[in-house]
Amino acid sequence: MANQRIQERKKRDMNVVSTQRNGEEVIHRNPVDVVIMAAGKGTRMKSKLPKVLHQLAGRALLQHVVDTAGELMARKVVVITGHGAIEVEAALAVNTGARAEFALQCVRQDPQLGTGHAVQQAVPALDDDGIVVVLSGDVPLTQSTTLMHLIAACAGKSLALLTLEMPNPAGYGRIVRAGGTRDGAVQAIVEHKDASDAQRQITEIYSGIMAVPAAQLKRWLARLDNKNAQSEYYLTDIVKFAVADGVPVVGHKIADAVQVAGVNSPVQLAELERAYQLRQAHRLMEEGVRLADPARIDVRGDLLCAHDVSIDVNCVFMGQVSLGEGVSIGANCVIANAVIEAGAVIHPFTHIDGEKMGVTVGPGALIGPFARLRPGARLGAEVHIGNFVEVKNSTLAAGAKANHLAYLGDATVGERVNYGAGSITANYDGANKHRTVIEADVHVGSNCVLVAPVTIGAGGTVGGGSTITKSTEPGALSVARGRQISIAHWERPRKAPKS
Ligand code: UD1
Ligand code: MG
Repeated sequence: MANQRIQERKKRDMNVVSTQRNGEEVIHRNPVDVVIMAAGKGTRMKSKLPKVLHQLAGRALLQHVVDTAGELMARKVVVITGHGAIEVEAALAVNTGARAEFALQCVRQDPQLGTGHAVQQAVPALDDDGIVVVLSGDVPLTQSTTLMHLIAACAGKSLALLTLEMPNPAGYGRIVRAGGTRDGAVQAIVEHKDASDAQRQITEIYSGIMAVPAAQLKRWLARLDNKNAQSEYYLTDIVKFAVADGVPVVGHKIADAVQVAGVNSPVQLAELERAYQLRQAHRLMEEGVRLADPARIDVRGDLLCAHDVSIDVNCVFMGQVSLGEGVSIGANCVIANAVIEAGAVIHPFTHIDGEKMGVTVGPGALIGPFARLRPGARLGAEVHIGNFVEVKNSTLAAGAKANHLAYLGDATVGERVNYGAGSITANYDGANKHRTVIEADVHVGSNCVLVAPVTIGAGGTVGGGSTITKSTEPGALSVARGRQISIAHWERPRKAPKS
């Protein structure tokens, strides 16, 4: 994998991009620069959040597009911002910023006078030797292989348009071909509002995605006007300039509408989320994962599964999660940023969130139902964590058990420790956190408070109900509670008889 990446980088550095077409490698020699239009308003989202920052599968719509640009080995990515520019630019800086393998630049478009006007703003940032791929920040699910094919169709000398047949093409730009045939040369894109009745019968639409040689693009952009039904500068008007200049225009048609679907409303956002999740589910099943119901799993990040993993209904995976061989996940679990090792069983309704520190669950461990593992929980082999047990920033060695209603925070727990129901580590003194060390083979009874910093020596026993404030010797029984007294023949108070 890493090797492949290095190879790909080398190709990019040599200004060579290769793609597979019909099983053959296609080489094209222009660097790729991506322009992402993201200045539009998104009125129909009815939200304060700029449209392109709404989340799909745990990532902003725009982030999906930027990540796809990364997969294209883009040299430069120029994002056109407008509505909500400050928020959009800040989100990009945090999520991509200096980590990107490409130069990322934001350019403001204010006011927004159309898609042609949007791309005009990018012109000073574009070098003449590139192929420019134009994408939209609200079209999140385009696959990089599709774009590679489009780039190959452009090949630095043609204008390549990504198109689609749509049974109901209302609202879209139509691909007008010579002679009105399906395979005639592309002559123009006509926007729905400008189209004649005859043109509105055309079902081949422009997806909003193109690949175009930068030098030509710049020349054509300079010639745009806004004499049309919407008084906008249409990017799509460059098609007729290409035709006039004798530059070949290639329509690259795909069948998969999800890849070019935009998000304009919460309904469309939810539809694309479902489409994306169903694809993830099918990918997992193809890798051998057994899903109780492919329609009831959500993966908002990367889920890596070894063989013989099974996942019951209504589970959500977030961030980076890996599941080892034979892992079983019960219904209704939420698991984020965690490594679950081979043979572990996560019972229903368990919540695991490693956040930045991560969580590891050792081989053969049994977790839940209703368990909560928080950042820094490191559980060894065969550890048992039962219902209503919370573990945070604690290491539990092999075979340790906390089966009921307990809290382990900032603790180091040895092998085979048995931690009783209702016991807690009092790790916080109101100002600072302190560690509790419970050495191997300790038995902590029920309802104990271990006031940190404190160490329970190996093999020791803590009597139920104890509040332990001083470290204990190995092998000792420690009891720290009021001694039981019993008064024989105790007479309870009685109510006075009614007069
Ligand atoms: C555009 C195409 C149309 C195509 C359709 C596919 C034009 C003129 N028309 O139509 O042929 O079928 O996409 O969805 O290009 N944007 C800006 N600045 C602007 C205007 C738009 O950044 O001034 C951004 C929007 O935020 C959006 C993208 O460009 O991300 C496309 O704009 P949108 O208004 O959705 O395109 P349409 O007019 O629907
Ligand atoms: Mg528009």
